[in-house]
Amino acid sequence: MSYVLVEHYPELKLMLSDAIKEATDILKRDMVKYASGDLYPARYANGKYVAVKNADPLCYYWEEGFWPGQLWLAYEATGDEAFRKLADKNVDDFYKRVDENNHIDWHHDLGFLYTPSCVSAYMLTGNETAKKAALMAAYSLSRRFRPRGQFIQSMSFELDEPNYKFIVDTMLNIPLLFWAAKETGEESYRQKALAHLNTTVKYAMREDGTTYHHFLMDEKTGGPIKGQTWQGDGDESCWSRGQAWVVYGLALGYGYTKDEKILGHFKKATDYVMNHMPEDFVPYWDFVYSDGSEEPRDSSAAAIIACGILEMAKHAPECDFMKGYLDKVAKMMRSMAVSYANKLKNGTEGLLLHGTDAKPQGEGIDVPLSFGDYFYMESLIRATRDWKSYW
Ligand code: GLY
Repeated sequence: MSYVLVEHYPELKLMLSDAIKEATDILKRDMVKYASGDLYPARYANGKYVAVKNADPLCYYWEEGFWPGQLWLAYEATGDEAFRKLADKNVDDFYKRVDENNHIDWHHDLGFLYTPSCVSAYMLTGNETAKKAALMAAYSLSRRFRPRGQFIQSMSFELDEPNYKFIVDTMLNIPLLFWAAKETGEESYRQKALAHLNTTVKYAMREDGTTYHHFLMDEKTGGPIKGQTWQGDGDESCWSRGQAWVVYGLALGYGYTKDEKILGHFKKATDYVMNHMPEDFVPYWDFVYSDGSEEPRDSSAAAIIACGILEMAKHAPECDFMKGYLDKVAKMMRSMAVSYANKLKNGTEGLLLHGTDAKPQGEGIDVPLSFGDYFYMESLIRATRDWKSYW
């Protein structure tokens, strides 16, 4: 099924196609900085992205895949070969990283790294190196699955370190496993992805649809211990981007399984979001804050939520709650394009302003974020054409 937002909200058509033009022009302008093919925008400082090497032994980031992801989206939007050529160089670099096992085994964010960089490349151009790299990454991610507790373990630097927990961010890593199951016919990838999704909902989602960021499990019994936070305001708060990962992850999980229970979980998580949005539909960095607060926004959460709802609209267009969500997504798209998008003429890097990476750690506050840029671009493409998801 396809769902193209602008066909239902034609008043957005011109605005969003202008926004795509603006975004692709910014990418074209900034590509020279990353032309070597082994450099990526990761963290933002002094009005610019710091260019990092994907396989640098000191590099612990999780964001590098979002740069080639933006290039692939820009290639789809414009057909400009320059985007494809640089993204293809990035594929070779991502292959090198996984082949050399450079920060792969301990990394819990392999889906974030390898889906937008390599699954995309394989889907769009049949690049076999990209397919191989993504499958190797999926294998490595699958090794983090813990049968005792049924989840993909996060936050440990060694596979077996006794830091027995999962995080809601992993909801966007498991699509790599769903994809690998489809590509290889290896059912265990799908079983692990689904088990992780169900464990996340069972323990990390509260009665009101909000979620804990981290969830600590009992290593001996595999039972739940307690929810915690790292990037949220408090253990009992609802970190906006974490909630966004859950909304989008559930939409993708539903697409892969068509399990009606997942649709119900999606509604619960999304209802909370939609009932707690500020007036301009771009959340503060944690849902404990609302209109009138001086706290910063996290525009990346808005972009991720929009993608999640647009994904679900493809699979469940007739659902009674969908029209209400889509009316709000239309407002989110307008708000991002008008008030949060970077404008080419101001010269700064990044596509989407006012993101917040990790407020408690004092990292990336009220700045562009490479994943905010990526999901903003993805939301624009999803809203304006029938798009085949990389996730
Ligand atoms: N690691 C994912 C995030 O910070 O949202």
